Amino acid sequence: MSDFLRINRDGGVAIVTIDNPPVNALSFHLREPLMQALVELRDDASVAAVVIVCAGRTFVAGADITEFGKPVQQPDLRAIVATLESITKSTVAAIHGTALGGGLELALGCHFRVADTGAKLGLPEVKLGLLPGGGGTVRLPRLVGALKALKMIVSGAPISATEAHAAGLVDAVFEGDLTTHAVNFARELARKGGPFTPVRDRDDGLKETDLAALDAEAADLARKARGLDAPIACALSVRNAVTLPFDPALAAERALFVKLVGSDQSRAQRHLFFAEREAAKISAKDVVKRRIARIGVIGAGTMGGGIAMAFANGGYPVTLLETSHEALQRGLATIDKNYSVSVTRGSLTEDAKRQRLAQFTGSTDYADLADCDLIVEAVFEDMAVKKEVFGKLEAVAKPGAILATNTSYLDIDEIAASTSRPQDVVGLHFFSPANVMKLLEIVRAQRTAPDALATVVDLARRIGKVAVVVGVCHGFVGNRMLAARGSESEALLLEGATPRQIDQVFTDFGWPMGPFQMGDLAGLDIGWRNRKAQGLTAVIADTLCEQGRFGQKTGKGFYLYENGSRTPVPDPQVEALIRAEADEKGIAPRAISAEEIIERTLYPLINEGAKILEEGIAARASDIDIVWVNGYGFPVGKGGPMFWAGLEGAGKIIERLEYWHQRTGKDVFKPAPLLKTMAETGSWEAGATV
Ligand code: 3HC
Ligand code: NAI
Repeated sequence: MSDFLRINRDGGVAIVTIDNPPVNALSFHLREPLMQALVELRDDASVAAVVIVCAGRTFVAGADITEFGKPVQQPDLRAIVATLESITKSTVAAIHGTALGGGLELALGCHFRVADTGAKLGLPEVKLGLLPGGGGTVRLPRLVGALKALKMIVSGAPISATEAHAAGLVDAVFEGDLTTHAVNFARELARKGGPFTPVRDRDDGLKETDLAALDAEAADLARKARGLDAPIACALSVRNAVTLPFDPALAAERALFVKLVGSDQSRAQRHLFFAEREAAKISAKDVVKRRIARIGVIGAGTMGGGIAMAFANGGYPVTLLETSHEALQRGLATIDKNYSVSVTRGSLTEDAKRQRLAQFTGSTDYADLADCDLIVEAVFEDMAVKKEVFGKLEAVAKPGAILATNTSYLDIDEIAASTSRPQDVVGLHFFSPANVMKLLEIVRAQRTAPDALATVVDLARRIGKVAVVVGVCHGFVGNRMLAARGSESEALLLEGATPRQIDQVFTDFGWPMGPFQMGDLAGLDIGWRNRKAQGLTAVIADTLCEQGRFGQKTGKGFYLYENGSRTPVPDPQVEALIRAEADEKGIAPRAISAEEIIERTLYPLINEGAKILEEGIAARASDIDIVWVNGYGFPVGKGGPMFWAGLEGAGKIIERLEYWHQRTGKDVFKPAPLLKTMAETGSWEAGATV
């Protein structure tokens, strides 16, 4: 009856098959025939039961996100669910793959839900800055209870079919051909006869709601929301499901949804959804990828150990190489300890830990890397050491093996040029801790072969990383922009701001922590070493390091951390040090506003991003956003720095950059030409040179 939907009959059971690839999203072109089908089957006396199934890899994965922000075309999802609930014969949703968002809401419009053993069910709207707007917040609590619904809706995390069955969301779980099982299930219901109660009229889950416990949970979630509106709206809507009759609760949900869908936060989060998928697209995607079966990691320090874990967690056997037996044992012991912490926390079983550890082979002999298809070096950040390692690799690595470096700053073209196989050399810039952080900057060097690049992009996805392909420059995308963000830190301190004040401006903006807290967490000695290597200084940070104040690891940095605590406490000694330095330089302290802190930290960050786009170091502005959200904690509700620049106004940013450029003469404030294009056209891509 439509390209996107068909109806088959099996005796008295009508099977509605939705077929809207790739994920059966509820686009307008599907909603229209779906509505027609439901009305037709409702009014057809020969139909005893209705089963809704999906073709392809998944049940309906939600509303069509591309339609948000545009005028709603009727019928909308709510009208479809209402029609579904007006059917008095039994209705059954047969779920395979993922029933997400509007998909689960559609299923909640049915009397019954059956699922394949591998199915997952959830309401992830919160991740798009939304709440479920098709009745999910009002219907789900009726089946699983308000507290469980609250947790599912505010986390956005899907649950398994088994868990959904135990919670009362799913009525039966089947292995094997789902449609056959669902049809038999529906036929049996029809045989027994109704009446069947729609979810809107059920209250199984609501009967024993502890409103005080729900409010306590909601208050806790609101504290963790970090300025995001959606989690709070989700919690409020679930509360309405408990305290209001169905229809007013549904209307309240709608009103909240309409408000959120038009908000900058939701626009930002929707931008990130598509940006993440876009980032994975490279022009070389059609080439034949190289086979990756075993991975070598050189250096078992902070990064090497984490990188090796990331690959082992993704199911790859890893050969870990160190300079000495002692260093190797130290590295392996750290890996063991990290897995043990996961076991203690309950996120890994003892058995899974054993399996992961069995993936590792330790070695101190480069010859043992001969059977590796990809070798990642994470040795000291020193060009001579890197070249030595690549020299040794050339002698042992099999032809076609991909040779990767985890360097933070060094010129990968230079490393590649030192080998006879530059086409196999690529940068894999992991973030610390490498087994946890999602971001992976994949650095394409001048001569990296397309198939080598395509292979590592694919591999990144396989180990659960968010990959962004970038070009070679000092610090690549992330660290280069970080340097721009931090370039005024010391000046701000000397002119009168405190570390606490600056950090507070950052957390108020939505960052998980400010730059000084981040420095203390990462270790101030890292930046100190880097500066020394480049002949640079930072008077306050250098002095702190000279005093042995490296941050959390020494209990002191920009803040004090007493008795092993991770809570930063402002230290009068640091403030005195700052004032003494300012006095010596003849800088009189003055009040510094939050706006000034933003202008002197985040505007240079965006300006550097614009330069990076001009140079073609990043292919898209949205790639930069993905780097910053996944690698540095840029608030998701602001969509990343380049998206936020659009909200803030490129014209305003240019004006303030010019002001600070005039005052300081510093290059970081000199507006990039692309920023001007952005101000004129409203688009970063208009002037990008890629
Ligand atoms: N709307 C529009 N397009 C969607 C979509 C959606 N809901 N979900 C996925 N797509 C697109 C992707 O952009 C991608 O397009 P591309 O190939 O052109 O880049 C394509 O479908 C395939 O998606 P993935 O690459 O993500 O495929 P995976 O197999 O890795 O993952 C998935 C499948 C788990 C379903 C994942 O796509 C996903 O999480 N989708 C979003 C689910 C979601 O957020 N649903 C809620 C929507 S909001 C809603 O329903 C509001 C309602 O309450 C009113
Ligand atoms: P680290 O000092 O913790 O570890 C380096 C390890 O390499 C040491 O265990 C050392 O014994 C080993 N090593 C040195 N030379 C070797 C050789 N020739 N053969 C085998 N092993 C050798 O250093 P870290 O922090 O792990 O950094 C490693 C690399 O990762 C550097 O290039 C660094 O810039 C980069 N990086 C570091 C990040 C961080 O946050 N620490 C983040 C991203 C990249």
